[in-house]
Amino acid sequence: MTQSAAPTPDRDRVIATLDAIRDPATGLGLHASGLVQALVVGPGRVGFMMEVASADAARYAYIRDAAEKALAGLPGVEKAQVVMTASSRAPAPGTTRVRKGVQVNDDPRTAPQAKPLTAVPNVKRVIAVVSGKGGVGKSTVAVNLACAFAALGHKTGLLDCDVYGPSIPRMLGTDQELERADEQIVPLQAWGLKLMSIGFIVDEGRAMIWRGPMVSSAVRQMINDVRWGTPDDPLDVLIIDMPPGTGDIQLTLFQDFKVDGAVVVSTPQEIALIDARRAVAMLEKLRTPVLGMVENMAFFPDPATGARIPIFGEGGAKAEAAKLGVPVLAEIPIDMALRAGGDEGRPLTAAHPESPVSQAFLQAARALG
Ligand SMILES: Nc1ncnc2c1ncn2[C@@H]1O[C@H](COP(=O)(O)OP(=O)(O)O)[C@@H](O)[C@H]1O
Ligand SMILES: [Mg+2]
Repeated sequence: MTQSAAPTPDRDRVIATLDAIRDPATGLGLHASGLVQALVVGPGRVGFMMEVASADAARYAYIRDAAEKALAGLPGVEKAQVVMTASSRAPAPGTTRVRKGVQVNDDPRTAPQAKPLTAVPNVKRVIAVVSGKGGVGKSTVAVNLACAFAALGHKTGLLDCDVYGPSIPRMLGTDQELERADEQIVPLQAWGLKLMSIGFIVDEGRAMIWRGPMVSSAVRQMINDVRWGTPDDPLDVLIIDMPPGTGDIQLTLFQDFKVDGAVVVSTPQEIALIDARRAVAMLEKLRTPVLGMVENMAFFPDPATGARIPIFGEGGAKAEAAKLGVPVLAEIPIDMALRAGGDEGRPLTAAHPESPVSQAFLQAARALG
């Protein structure tokens, strides 16, 4: 964390300040009218998200600016940030946004299926890292794969779409404030990567309680409103760290955007492989190519001899990949330095590219091209 020992502003005072600004639609204060979502009050900083229909975006831009200005004036606030998310599937007038207790029909499952896919602006290639099950090492793989692409000379971005458990800030050791330029969010930079995480905007606990539509619009914003590249200087590859399973975030990403392919992460256990199969079935349904599998925690190297000790069984992922007709991109052992690198914000592949595990990630990146 790069935060100073700044005091934390008073939450009630923050809410009162926001309620002193009127929502033109309801005539109520911003907080009372339900416009203040995912409010974060931390040392020296306040931030929240405000979801409005696209048609209302211009009308609410000044409300956002007014809220930022008012919050910035509070004692203890060094940085105030209001992120306005414009929902492209605008509900009918009168229910133009998510209010407390109001269900907006923004569910991608009931939205029209055959929409044309949007290309991620100024990004040449998008690769999602998915798994059926949590805790299999998806974020570890996404981070180290992104570092491997960067080490091979690709301009690389890493997007943390795990709204329910963002881990990119910790794994990359970054938690600076985001800056905005020309109505776009400028991604953070660390370890040669451009980074964006929902964790830069909100904290984990708050993100848990988001409703589907908010999550979807947060994902869209992190793709559309972030300056990943420019027409003159596009990003070569964007790696997306996904949450486990097949929920709103997956549907939003794969149904709205052109994703070139997915890398499926699994451990060798049967239970993880069953979930991996489920993830592959989802990708097929959403017409996203599976580029390959990464078998994580594949074995434990014997400390004395280096021989493989197959703690979780052996050969399962290989057999599964063969059945699915996809390559195994890497077999990553259980590795203390890999875990420590994640915990300390020093990705192994960037900090120690010479290690055998880093070499395996570099090999996977080369195979992906
Ligand atoms: N190959 C590995 N060796 C040792 N620890 C690992 C390995 N892969 C992941 N971990 C650790 O396991 C935990 C879960 O990994 P993470 O990448 O956060 O999984 P996910 O994103 O799938 O939930 C983390 O503490 C991580 O450091
Ligand atoms: Mg993760």
